[in-house]
Amino acid sequence: MKIYIAPLAGVTDYTFRGLLDEYKPDLMFTEMVSINALEMENEKTLNQILRIRDGEAVQIFGKDIDKMVHSAKYITEKLGVKHIDVNAGCPVNKIIRNGYGAALLEEPDHIKRILCEIRENIADDVDLSLKTRVGYKGLKQHKLVGKIAQESGCKHITIHGRTREQMYSGKADWELIKEVKESIDIEVIGNGDIFTAEDAYEKVKYSGVDGIMLARGICGNPWLVQQIREKFELGEVKTEVTSEDRLNMAIKHTLQAKLDNPNKVFLFELRKHLCWYLKGMRNGAALKSAINLIDSYDELVKLLERAKENL
Ligand SMILES: Cc1cc2nc3c(=O)[nH]c(=O)nc-3n(C[C@H](O)[C@H](O)[C@H](O)COP(=O)(O)O)c2cc1C
Repeated sequence: MKIYIAPLAGVTDYTFRGLLDEYKPDLMFTEMVSINALEMENEKTLNQILRIRDGEAVQIFGKDIDKMVHSAKYITEKLGVKHIDVNAGCPVNKIIRNGYGAALLEEPDHIKRILCEIRENIADDVDLSLKTRVGYKGLKQHKLVGKIAQESGCKHITIHGRTREQMYSGKADWELIKEVKESIDIEVIGNGDIFTAEDAYEKVKYSGVDGIMLARGICGNPWLVQQIREKFELGEVKTEVTSEDRLNMAIKHTLQAKLDNPNKVFLFELRKHLCWYLKGMRNGAALKSAINLIDSYDELVKLLERAKENL
């Protein structure tokens, strides 16, 4: 059973993926990359989002077939990436308005053309995949997109068990994910609402998927990868996460962010992660307020160290 780390814009950046790597997920995806931004050589896209390590997968989003192919070729040939993922699931208005992300579900034939053209133009040793939702505008297209992914030469399809209209509300429908698994032969990766090892176990046993993709569940909880492995391999979760572990991870994350970005301060991104680590901890609320007022890596580390002494 494979464990993949989802593309999460503003979250699964270079530093966080570095921390997650310690728990050895089978594959990690970058935040989604705009094919338009790549074409315009946007600085953030080139230097931040496409800052990658060997073995990581890159997700692209857009609609224009030539640009999609061009981006896939650039990322695989110039950057040496061995896995390209196409986003057909993003529900955000500004993406949908342009016909990108989940809006592609309105034109399943176009998804097929994008995938087939990319497949034809990238090297044989590069994997291609599709990440999508179960439907758009009241239609349930899960089995259709599964078939399309298979016919277009995808290595796998990741299916999030919500429609575009659901955004992130309601529950992911793993029955629909199960139906995709039962209807195609390529690997099916299930996604949606995995927050604990028990969630993962229950959903995999129910649906028979080949793997899972973790998204919001790993925010502030990189241990989830290890806990899921324990549940599957040993029958129970062995790793208990204490408040001290949480603070240590928050300190590690801060120090790593400083090391990764010696010339630039990314406190906005970092604060979000730190607040997640502290969620539910005694005095967590006061600590979070203090974190949001600090504007240097060193001061953050001092605050977190002090919090450890006061545990
Ligand atoms: C903050 C945030 C950013 C996301 N960014 C992306 C993205 O860049 N590409 C993508 O395909 N999905 C993105 N997603 C969707 C997730 O990858 C995932 O499909 C979704 O959160 C459902 O899984 P979950 O219920 O385990 O969180 C994002 C979700 C969130 C909450």
